Amino acid sequence: MNHRRVLITGGAGFIGSHLTEELLSRDLAVTVIDNLSTGNWSNLDHLGHNKRLRVIVASAADPKLLEKEVPRHDFVYHLASAVGVKLIIDHPVHTVQNIVETTEVVTSMCSKYRKPVLLTSTSEVYGKSEDIPFREDADIVMGATSKRRWAYACAKALDEFLVLAHYYETNLPVFIVRLFNTVGPRQTGRYGMVLPSLVGQALNGAPMTVYGTGRQSRCFCSVHDVVNALARFLECPGAAGKVLNIGTNEEITIHGLAQKIKQLTGSRSEIQLIPYDQAYGPGFDDMMRRVPDLTRAKELLGWTPKRSLDDIIIGIASALAPADDGILAGVLAR
Ligand SMILES: NC(=O)c1ccc[n+]([C@@H]2O[C@H](COP(=O)([O-])OP(=O)(O)OC[C@H]3O[C@@H](n4cnc5c(N)ncnc54)[C@H](O)[C@@H]3O)[C@@H](O)[C@H]2O)c1
Repeated sequence: MNHRRVLITGGAGFIGSHLTEELLSRDLAVTVIDNLSTGNWSNLDHLGHNKRLRVIVASAADPKLLEKEVPRHDFVYHLASAVGVKLIIDHPVHTVQNIVETTEVVTSMCSKYRKPVLLTSTSEVYGKSEDIPFREDADIVMGATSKRRWAYACAKALDEFLVLAHYYETNLPVFIVRLFNTVGPRQTGRYGMVLPSLVGQALNGAPMTVYGTGRQSRCFCSVHDVVNALARFLECPGAAGKVLNIGTNEEITIHGLAQKIKQLTGSRSEIQLIPYDQAYGPGFDDMMRRVPDLTRAKELLGWTPKRSLDDIIIGIASALAPADDGILAGVLAR
């Protein structure tokens, strides 16, 4: 496949900005459409000089804009989405509407102009399944609709159904990636992302807040590994019509993560357990483990994650620490 011009919805966000960088480094021309709802202009600042980059500040749910932009491109990465547990709990209507409406507009334009489209879905889609590791075709176990956090998972699952429907009905080349926890520089802790929140607290000497018992575990993958996987889909027509897990299967409890961050940053912060009710209001639901089966990603993309959790944490801490933080510089240099 020869994809020279790529459109990225949500390209000013955390993962989108790294993907933009990755694709520009591969000599592609990139257009970003982002409404800056959770993304930030500053995420792309360092790429502003690049003549192959266009940035449009607008909603990807705008059919007139998409009607104009989609036909000009060879491949569409659809990342634009409401993201983050806190955002979802606080703004459930916006979450569901934004996810479903935007995907509807993006995929129908891709269908109209026969453009390949990749949807970033999420490991949340597995819900409360305990069938570890999660395989892409395994059953999903969804929580009750009265628990708002599942709105995100259900909306993303509906996105997957819609995208796959285009594949079944008209053979549109579609790609679905279920991302597991992705972390790295530029991710903000504002919407409930655990790793940047804990690193920020550790660097500021503030209490490090761990929700629930801290015994729940997750697998944290470097955004650099993730965008490397995403870029591979441009040359991988064999992955069309399939769902692929992307992440790492290196598991750590959230309490263990807090301890690791404390040690790597040399922080004196206390680790504080906060009950879920206090953090998210009554009736919050969570899953204990979330580990991907990565067989399909390896077989179809030839991809496996490379970076260790220690390296990821050090990278995030270095990006967040003030330049004159001599103590941290000493700890990180060890
Ligand atoms: N970060 C993770 O660990 C993770 C895990 C699973 C899935 N994902 C998925 O990856 C994608 C990117 O997530 P992220 O972590 O970079 O989050 P992010 O919030 O940084 O990025 C989302 C971007 O989409 C933009 N956006 C939202 N709605 C829009 C709309 N209607 N039109 C245009 N732009 C819009 C936001 O401004 C933001 O820049 C999302 O689809 C998300 O569901 C992320």
